[in-house]
Amino acid sequence: MTTIRSTVLGCGSYLPEKILTNEDLARMVDTTDEWIVQRTGIRQRHIAAEGEFTSHLAIKAAERALAHAGLTAQDIDTIILATATPDNTFPSTAVQVQAALGMRHGVAFDVHAVCSGFVFALTTADTFIRCGQAKRVLVIGAETFSRILDWNDRTTCVLFGDGAGAVILEGREASGTVADHGILTSHLRSDGQHKSKLYVDGGPSTTQTVGHLRMEGKEVFKHAVGMITDVIEDAFKATGLTGEDLTWFIPHQANRRIIDASAKKLDIAPEKVVVTVDLHGNTSAASIPLALDAAVKDGRVKSGDLIMLEAMGGGFTWGSVLLRW
Ligand SMILES: CC(C)(COP(=O)(O)OP(=O)(O)OC[C@H]1O[C@@H](n2cnc3c(N)ncnc32)[C@H](O)[C@@H]1OP(=O)(O)O)[C@@H](O)C(=O)NCCC(=O)NCCS
Repeated sequence: MTTIRSTVLGCGSYLPEKILTNEDLARMVDTTDEWIVQRTGIRQRHIAAEGEFTSHLAIKAAERALAHAGLTAQDIDTIILATATPDNTFPSTAVQVQAALGMRHGVAFDVHAVCSGFVFALTTADTFIRCGQAKRVLVIGAETFSRILDWNDRTTCVLFGDGAGAVILEGREASGTVADHGILTSHLRSDGQHKSKLYVDGGPSTTQTVGHLRMEGKEVFKHAVGMITDVIEDAFKATGLTGEDLTWFIPHQANRRIIDASAKKLDIAPEKVVVTVDLHGNTSAASIPLALDAAVKDGRVKSGDLIMLEAMGGGFTWGSVLLRW
């Protein structure tokens, strides 16, 4: 049976120039490098410059993904951008990227699933491609979480950073087996009853302010591993594959302890896990494409590799995407 698979043509990422180390943070709030590294694995994060917006990070990541794929914006028909920190309430950050890339055709829109945003955007792109709505999609995760942090709250401000990553997907005919290149299966979930555990205490309709990120860290931690492993097991059930078949596990980069516990529960060997959280902290929707791009550009990810992506975030939302590079 032949089918259409969304195959990856290229990827790119961008981190703002300014680096904020744990030592820098220890001069701002009552914390230490040791506490942050031990609890999270984070050593530094990048912070967008004044006047540098989510769209600017997204444009740089998109340009790098286009160059990696050997394409221009004229070759793309759809942009799907995942963010929880848009430049403005509207229009979408995606249309700002579309304009900056000189794209006057096609369609661009944002999706919002916080830290699961990139997995939700990839799944949306894959669905558009497989049902014939799109041919080539630029999928971006981009965030400036530094703008919604309470810099006096040591329990949250040490965890997050800014950045962007992008991939380009194209619909190609394939055999319909798990040997195909491209997205093989994806599984999305949400459960709004957990919304008070990780949220922003402002918004246009409620407070007419942007607000700050608030989190019950222990509660998030408690749910994270179970939710992540559930959607990954769904992917294994749908394909008949197992943790042993994976070449790479590229999880949302929130916390080293969550990543390690998830990999252990799924029997994924530590050397298959791509970790970049130490270098950029939790960049929400940008973290998976940042980690993916790092592993592609340093030569770890090769054609034919089987890659599991997963994320969990505010809402809660969570999801997995299994793909062959
Ligand atoms: C946030 C997190 C690292 C906190 O670790 P924890 O072991 O649960 O720590 P606790 O919240 O129990 O706090 C332990 C102590 O450290 C203190 N503490 C909190 N933040 C601190 C910091 N940055 N530096 C130093 N001490 C800190 C607390 O005040 C508390 O002190 P107390 O015992 O005197 O009250 C952890 O809960 C976590 O990783 N949660 C998931 C967060 C996440 O990934 N969110 C994003 C999902 S997309």
